[in-house]
Amino acid sequence: MTDAAGAKVCLQVQGLEGFYGETQALHGVDFEVREGEVVCLLGRNGAGKTTSLRAIVGLLQRRRGTITVNGQSTTGMPAERIARLGVAYCPEERGIFASLNVEENLLLPPVLMPGGMPVDEIYRLFPNLLQRRTSPGTKLSGGEQQMLAIARILRTGAKLLLLDEPTEGLAPVIVEKIGETIRMLQKRGFTILMVEQNFRFASRVADRFYVIEEGRVAMQFERDAIAADRARIEAILGL
Ligand SMILES: Nc1ncnc2c1ncn2[C@@H]1O[C@H](COP(=O)(O)OP(=O)(O)OP(=O)(O)O)[C@@H](O)[C@H]1O
Ligand SMILES: [Mg+2]
Repeated sequence: MTDAAGAKVCLQVQGLEGFYGETQALHGVDFEVREGEVVCLLGRNGAGKTTSLRAIVGLLQRRRGTITVNGQSTTGMPAERIARLGVAYCPEERGIFASLNVEENLLLPPVLMPGGMPVDEIYRLFPNLLQRRTSPGTKLSGGEQQMLAIARILRTGAKLLLLDEPTEGLAPVIVEKIGETIRMLQKRGFTILMVEQNFRFASRVADRFYVIEEGRVAMQFERDAIAADRARIEAILGL
């Protein structure tokens, strides 16, 4: 699937509605992600950013609308089949097992796609994790846990990575490292859809942005447009 400009679209979300029980959290979300992009979902607390990611990977019980991953509609697909289309999700809570060490955590996700990254290559890209190889999850800093959570999903072979608030709770120097990691992954051919509250960080890392407000896309813009539109963007984000 390609867009009007001929770029390959790896993710298309159209009219996405999502529900928790009787409560509707998403009211028709529309956006797309092209191959090789870093796209960021912004928006205030409770806007529907996490719910959008969860819907894409099949973790939301009730959803309506169309989601297309690498040209295939995922309507009605269970999460494990969606994962096999090459999409992986790193949740906000990171999901590192405290009782397992770094390497054991790394080995948890199954290789689902050709190109699943071998552990020695992961260590080459994340030398800090190699140093901490035998440290248990409990002994890792927040930054190390986040790196491990991102590194771990590379094992699956997914090329489209969904990252929910990767910088949350991290010190500025570690935030910088996460930014370098995301840029490094983009250079290596990964496509990234991330959710961020830290707009200063996101505006240096992402190529394009969608602002979610009350379960809809309220605004979209490209990085190059930020300087000219800063006042309007900050107003809508409540900054
Ligand atoms: N498990 C749940 N059960 C019921 N309602 C939920 C659940 N998770 C989220 N919601 C509601 O759905 C709406 C969207 O929540 P979501 O977590 O997607 O927001 P978000 O944009 O990720 O916010 P934040 O920036 O705080 O992470 C909110 O109104 C929230 O209260
Ligand atoms: Mg969230």
